[in-house]
This record gives sequence, structure tokens and C-alpha cells, in this order.
Amino acid sequence: MAWKTLDDMALKGARVVTRVDINVPVSNGKVTDATRIERIVPTVADIRTAGGTVVLLAHFDRPKGKVVPELSLEQLVPTLSEHFGHPVQFAPTLTDAKAINLKDGDIMLVENTRFDPRETENDPSMAVDLASLGDIYCNDAFSTAHRAHASTAGIAKLLPNCAGRLMQVELQALEKALSNPEHPVVAVVGGAKVSSKLDLLGNLIPKVDQIVIGGGMANTFLAAQGIDVGKSLCEHDLADTAREIMAAAKAGNCELILPIDVITALEFKAGAEATTCAADACAPDAMILDAGPESVAQVEAVFDAAKTLVWNGPMGAFEIPPFNMATDAAALHAAKLSKAGKLLSVAGGGDTVAALNGSGAAEGFSYISTAGGAFLEWLEGKTLPGVAALES
Ligand code: 3PG
Repeated sequence: MAWKTLDDMALKGARVVTRVDINVPVSNGKVTDATRIERIVPTVADIRTAGGTVVLLAHFDRPKGKVVPELSLEQLVPTLSEHFGHPVQFAPTLTDAKAINLKDGDIMLVENTRFDPRETENDPSMAVDLASLGDIYCNDAFSTAHRAHASTAGIAKLLPNCAGRLMQVELQALEKALSNPEHPVVAVVGGAKVSSKLDLLGNLIPKVDQIVIGGGMANTFLAAQGIDVGKSLCEHDLADTAREIMAAAKAGNCELILPIDVITALEFKAGAEATTCAADACAPDAMILDAGPESVAQVEAVFDAAKTLVWNGPMGAFEIPPFNMATDAAALHAAKLSKAGKLLSVAGGGDTVAALNGSGAAEGFSYISTAGGAFLEWLEGKTLPGVAALES
């Protein structure tokens, strides 16, 4: 690893400016999923135990450089205090953050960094202001590492820096899954559109042994082979691109696995009457909404033979039952293999994690990333500015 961790830093008596991602879902003032908060507890605890003071920097939503009272981080203070087992002091401005008297072991949360337009511009003057709040910079926000902002990238150059515990765990899990994996490696790439996953497929083909294509994306690949997909979601204008991807996969010895049977319906709504048919037998007035049971059996057999699995994107319209069948069945099978120690499974992305949580498969996976966009960019092989800043 090219970056330092908290173990390499002199934390006693130090103010540790710690970038976290607490961009959590909130409804009626209540946090509805505290996963991202739970995952930063080890970093906060380790800094405090070592005698340091924690100064938390974070964004919330996208206020676009303006003060938006509903997007104040103050609303998270009770949940944070509860999870850290210690009261969190709140600093509404950077001036307040400097003035608040903190003792070793105290925790302070600074207001939404994105209320200041200089944050997303990675303005050096903002990085200087943030760096003046402490002695050490710790980045524990892998899920925001794809943003080159003042609090994720700019500040890292100004203070001795290190990765927090969650950043460490995320990077280690992802490296094990793709940088240095045990083969065979299988990737599940699903979702609505091929156009949003072109870079991802391009990066994965040379690295993995099989790619299971799921969701609306699969329809584009089926159509590119001359199969009539009826009224299914399909990017017909990407037929050439899909054929190029298939050719690149063949040349690179990467097997692309498409559905052999599908579940179709005449309407896109929960409980719509579902019909199972061969992948090349979709009725002209129907749409493909999920992979069928034979496809699931095929995917399960691929998982059985694999050592490593990387999952991004659902295999069908999982949010509308019964079209969650293929995603749930395949995910539960992967979870079972992982629990038995036969498969290293890593998943990430907003929809993916929602699908895996919905089926109960998530707890069986080896690692579930807290990242959405950052996970995708990492799978695409892109440099994440927040990680690169720690490496330099
Ligand atoms: C996320 O929720 O994925 C992160 O907090 C990043 O948020 P952003 O897409 O608004 O930068």
C-alpha cells in the first residue's frame, strides 16, 4: 500500500482533520440507513483512544455552494453522538470551528463543506482554511474519493496525511478482488444501459474470466445478435458497440454470459403477469424484465467454479416484484458460497447494495462497499483523486 494509516501517525495530542462520508438517507429528520456512520466508528474510536481530537469534515447532498438549511449536518449530530458513544460538538462555520475549545478525545463536526463554493472547485484557499483546523489529515471517505474537492484532495497536500480505517478496508477489499485476485474471477455487470457501463466493461474484459451481463444491458447485447427483444428497454443504436465488446471479450478469452431464458411482461409494474420464455422468444408486444430460471442456474454454476466475484448492477428490474427473482437467487447463491469460504465476493453501487439488502444476501458477501459512484469509477480503472492524494 502506498499510503499511510492511523498506525503511522503521532496521534497523541493531535487534532486530526478527518474527512468522512456521512451522506446518509434522512427522512423526516431521521436517519433511515446509518451504515455509513457505523463504518466510520473504528476511525473515530482509534483516534480518540490514541489521545487525539477528531475534527470531522463531510458533505451532505449537493447544495451547490449555497447555505441550504435543510442540508445542514447539524441534523446528524444526535445519531453521530450515539454511534460514537461521545457527544459531538457542532461548528456552523469555519470561524466557529477554530474558536471551539477542544480537549483530547473530543469530537467536532464542521458544517457541510459544500455550503462553500470553493469546496467543489478544489480552491486552494479552502484547502488552506480546512488544513488550519488541525495537525493531521485523515481521509476515511472512499465513497467520495472520486471527487477532486478541497476536503478530499486539496487538503491532503497541506498536512501529514493518512487513510482512515474504512478507507483502508475498502481499498484492501477492492484490491483483493480485482488488482490481485484469485482466478477464476467473475463479474456481474447489470443495470439499465450499456452506454453507462462502456468504460467498466472495457476495464474488466482483460482482468476477469467471465462477465455475467444482466438487466436492460443484456437486451442490447441480445438485440445486437439479431434477437427480437420486443418492447424491452434496449439501446438499439449501440448494436455496433455491443458487437465490438463481444469481439474484444472473445479475443481476450473473457466469456460474456447472456441470459438463455428471460421473464417478460406486457406492463412494467409490480405484480404484472410474468411469462418465462427462451431469450430469443420475447413476444413483440412484451418486455424483458428479468433473467429466467435457466439463466440463474447457469450463473450459479459459474459462481460455483469461481474464486472471486465482483458485482455491480442488478440482473433484472429488482425493485418491482416478481422481477427481483434472478438478482435475489444469484445473490443468495453467492452469499452461500462466500459464507462457506469458497468465494471472495465484493459488491458496490447504490442499486446493487439496495438489491442485496432486499434479498438478505448482503450479510453473506465478503465485502459490501459503501461507495456508489466511487466504486464504479474504481471498477472502470480510473484514478480516484482522493486516493491519489494520499499516495503522493
Ligand atoms: C455518494 O453518496 O455516493 C457520495 O457521498 C458522493 O456524493 P456525490 O455524488 O454528491 O459527490
